[in-house]
Amino acid sequence: MNTIPAYEIVPDSPEHSDAVEALYDDVFGPGRFAKTAERLREGNSPIADASLVAIDSEGLTGVVRVWPVKVGEGGRAAFLGPIAVAERRRGNGVAFKLMERAIGVCREQGYAAVILVGDHEYYERFGFHPAGDGRFLLPGPVDQKRVLIRDLADRAAKLKGELSVPR
Ligand SMILES: CC(C)(COP(=O)(O)OP(=O)(O)OC[C@H]1O[C@@H](n2cnc3c(N)ncnc32)[C@H](O)[C@@H]1OP(=O)(O)O)[C@@H](O)C(=O)NCCC(=O)NCCS
Repeated sequence: MNTIPAYEIVPDSPEHSDAVEALYDDVFGPGRFAKTAERLREGNSPIADASLVAIDSEGLTGVVRVWPVKVGEGGRAAFLGPIAVAERRRGNGVAFKLMERAIGVCREQGYAAVILVGDHEYYERFGFHPAGDGRFLLPGPVDQKRVLIRDLADRAAKLKGELSVPR
C-alpha cells in the first residue's frame, strides 16, 4: 500500500525562494536582517544539498540554510541558520529531521564542523556545545554563550578565529 508522507524534505532551490522568505518573515520579522549572523550570509551562497526545505500538502513548512564560512586564515566550516518551521507544523520533529539531514550532508561534504548562533538548550540534542569564549569572532556583536559548534572531524579542534564569507 502506498502511504503519502505527511511532509517531505528536499534540497532548497530557487523555486522555493519566495516561500522561504515569507516563512522567515513570519517567524523572525524584519529585524532578522539586523542580526550579526546575517553578515555571514550576505554575499554568500548556501551550501547546496545541506540547505533543505520541508514541504507538506499546504506548501513549504520548514527550512534550514547552511553556509560556507572561512575560519581564521586557513580554516573552513559550515555555518547553519536560520532554521524555521511554520507554526502549524511545530512539535512534529520537522526541525529535527532538517537538522539531522543538514548535519549529515555537511559531514559527507567534508566539513570539519558546523557552527551556529542559537540556544544551547535546543541544539545540544544535535551534539552542539558552546565553542568557548572568544574562540570565534563574528562580524558584529554576539553573545558568546550562544556561539555553538558541532564537531564532525578531529581537525575541528584546530578551528579558531574570525568567521568570514569565503572570497
Ligand atoms: C525552533 C524550531 C525551528 C523547532 O521546530 P520544530 O519542528 O517544532 O522542532 P521539533 O519538533 O524537532 O522539536 C520540538 C522541540 O524543541 C523544543 N524547542 C523549540 N525551540 C526551543 C528552544 N529555543 N530551546 C529549547 N527547546 C526548544 C520544543 O519545546 C520541543 O520540545 P519537545 O520535543 O520536548 O516537545 C521552531 O520552533 C521555530 O521555527 N521557532 C522559531 C524560529 C527559531 O527560534 N529558530 C531557531 C533559531 S535560528
